[in-house]
Amino acid sequence: MPEHRWRDAPDYRPRFPQGERLGIGILGCGEIAQQAHLPAYGDYDLDVVGVWSRTPTTTATVRQRFPFVRRIFATAEDLLDDPQVQVVDVATRPEGRLEWLAAAVSAGKHVLAQKPLTTDLAALAPVLDEADRRGVRIAVNQNGRWAPAWRLATLLVEAGAIGKVVGVTHLHDKPLPPIAGTHFDEMAHMLIADYLMHWIDITRCWLAGNQVEAVQARDHRTPGQPHTAKNPWAATVQIHCVDGADALVRIAGDVNTRRPACPFWIHGTEGTIRGSILVGSDFLDLERDGVSTRYTLDGEWFVDGFAGAMGELMCAVVENREPYHSAAHNASSLRLMLAARESAEQHGAAVPMNRLQL
Ligand SMILES: NC(=O)c1ccc[n+]([C@@H]2O[C@H](COP(=O)([O-])OP(=O)(O)OC[C@H]3O[C@@H](n4cnc5c(N)ncnc54)[C@H](O)[C@@H]3O)[C@@H](O)[C@H]2O)c1
Repeated sequence: MPEHRWRDAPDYRPRFPQGERLGIGILGCGEIAQQAHLPAYGDYDLDVVGVWSRTPTTTATVRQRFPFVRRIFATAEDLLDDPQVQVVDVATRPEGRLEWLAAAVSAGKHVLAQKPLTTDLAALAPVLDEADRRGVRIAVNQNGRWAPAWRLATLLVEAGAIGKVVGVTHLHDKPLPPIAGTHFDEMAHMLIADYLMHWIDITRCWLAGNQVEAVQARDHRTPGQPHTAKNPWAATVQIHCVDGADALVRIAGDVNTRRPACPFWIHGTEGTIRGSILVGSDFLDLERDGVSTRYTLDGEWFVDGFAGAMGELMCAVVENREPYHSAAHNASSLRLMLAARESAEQHGAAVPMNRLQL
């Protein structure tokens, strides 16, 4: 394999349909919609027809801060009825998300829904059938898939740059985001069930083609963790594949460091990918045939990843195909997460996965 084959990075940046702008309606305009969705859509000049929030005070200053937002809808029904809204961006909390998804599909809209999509895969199935019948696309906002270092790693893995993936390792060498006192702390096994969803999902992408034998996970409180913090601050998730490939995701706790990073390694039969994401630590290296290549990265997960997730759905709509982050593709990530949560409930017992095909 000539070494120069991997010198130029495949194009990992967000992609949008040429010459076509689809109208977006944001349903549930809270923290993440205002911190990441809207800034990303502004940066990439997307058409935001309007936003709706259950709590009107939440959106009081949205049009001042994001002048490209054309209107604030008074009701969710107004948003769903507006023919200019072609894509409904569901950014509510997990409770009730499936009902909003079903309502948007019934209104004939394509949907980008926040993660975790649902914990009830049986209830999701009829919504996906209805989407098929109506010819609308459902994508999951796994925006981490377009974090530049993760996206480029995915493209390199898919192109065979490291051969067959042998192992995936992620370490959270950084403090946790604030959890105590937020709505996130009310969710059981929150680190596994919500926060790590992006890490489980990207690992699923890198292990694509494998069959999963078992999942194991633990979460536990750490020394010095205050009693006011309800969720454990440490978590470990392991995914074991039938052919011996495996993955490890580890959060040591509320790490105390001045050099925060979120490193990852993808070891393959023919090479190694090393990188990091978040907190300004982004980099990506490929080591193959004794040659190391460091790629220049443009952009960051926050907020370019959010543009990438919306752009891929729009391209899929225009190109009449399933998006890469379709609900069906993401369902195996959800199965892995649900198994990890079950394992944590059983203090780390291995949960068999019956050769789950990734
Ligand atoms: N990188 C990421 O993709 C990322 C980052 C942070 C949060 N999230 C996810 O985004 C979702 C929203 O988190 P947030 O922190 O923005 O929450 P939030 O509470 O700040 O915002 C949610 C918005 O939806 C509204 N809402 C909540 N439940 C609703 C319901 N049933 N019907 C109608 N409106 C409802 C709220 O009033 C609010 O306007 C969560 O699922 C979270 O896991 C994703």
